[in-house]
Amino acid sequence: MTLAEAAQKMRNGELMVFPTETVYGLGAMASNDNAVQKIFEVKGRPQHNPLILHIAENRQLDALVEIIPKTARLLINHFWPGPLTICFRKSEKVSDLVTAGLSTVCVRRPDHPMAQELLKELMEPLAAPSANLSGKPSTTSFEDAKRQMEGKGVFFLDGGSTPLGLESTVVDCSGESIRLLRPGCVSTEELEEVLGERVIDASSGERIESPGQLLEHYAPSGDLTVLFGKSEQRRQWMKEHLNHDESTLILGLVGSDDPSLPGHHEILSPEESDLEHYAARIFHFLNYCDHSGAEQIVLELPKSKDPLLPALLNRLEKASKGHIISLEGMK
Ligand code: TXA
Ligand code: MG
Repeated sequence: MTLAEAAQKMRNGELMVFPTETVYGLGAMASNDNAVQKIFEVKGRPQHNPLILHIAENRQLDALVEIIPKTARLLINHFWPGPLTICFRKSEKVSDLVTAGLSTVCVRRPDHPMAQELLKELMEPLAAPSANLSGKPSTTSFEDAKRQMEGKGVFFLDGGSTPLGLESTVVDCSGESIRLLRPGCVSTEELEEVLGERVIDASSGERIESPGQLLEHYAPSGDLTVLFGKSEQRRQWMKEHLNHDESTLILGLVGSDDPSLPGHHEILSPEESDLEHYAARIFHFLNYCDHSGAEQIVLELPKSKDPLLPALLNRLEKASKGHIISLEGMK
């Protein structure tokens, strides 16, 4: 299917799974309420969880929002196209179905050739959540997206693996202060540097303000544990806690490939054990856990001060339902 054909299908109200630089999205024309409603049905997504809009060019934003604050302008100039979603006060043009009745709308301009071309063909905003069933891990490869979304009457564009692998950072510029609603590949430090002001973390704890953050998320069917610690400590923990069979899957670090350890290991090479590579394949691993029927899952997390760590921990805390174990008192 060409991108022009894909665009035509979407104009006719069809849903399209398409790649972005973060994760695969499930898109519908934002102006078509029936198509938008179908997104909620296909994903099993609660109706109160709003969708973000995707645009091809900055000027499309004007029609969608009441005002573009100075702060948002700074962020747009610096980070778009890219993995940053910005929350604005919405204009009347944006349907309540998209925003789940909120007075704000989240918008981003993706930086992926296929997504950009599709959006340019349409020149209309697309409402698109991540292409996964509600509560399940996001998808970062065509195969994973297909596995979760097949048989639901939606169409697919194959863009291979998505390069970043974690969903966009969501930042709220609609109020007095700037608030982080979801950590992602653009770090708080980077945002603060561009803004010249503090960004308040509203992504966890009592301050949660993004409806999606309240829901169970990213969880594979098996029991997931995230382990921090020295190699010897991790080894010991696994010997004590894991079943010795193929239903145990471990995404491990270099040095964990010890035949006396339980379970099946997927080991990261030295080049891959930095957080960037780790983040890029985490959802693929969690999808693999599901379709291979893993019952016990362990993720060994590298020690790192990488700015990606908060975003990765945010996803893993949800995926593991808080089961993150620090074996040396560090997290
Ligand atoms: O990288 C991404 O952002 C991907 C790709 C496909 O673009 N999309 C994505 O969409 O992650 P979704 O729906 O899975 O996550 C969007 C998050 C949800 O947690 C939702 O609650 C929040 O953004 N959100 C959307 N509109 C909002 C609004 N007006 N106010 C607060 N939070 C909002
Ligand atoms: Mg999602």
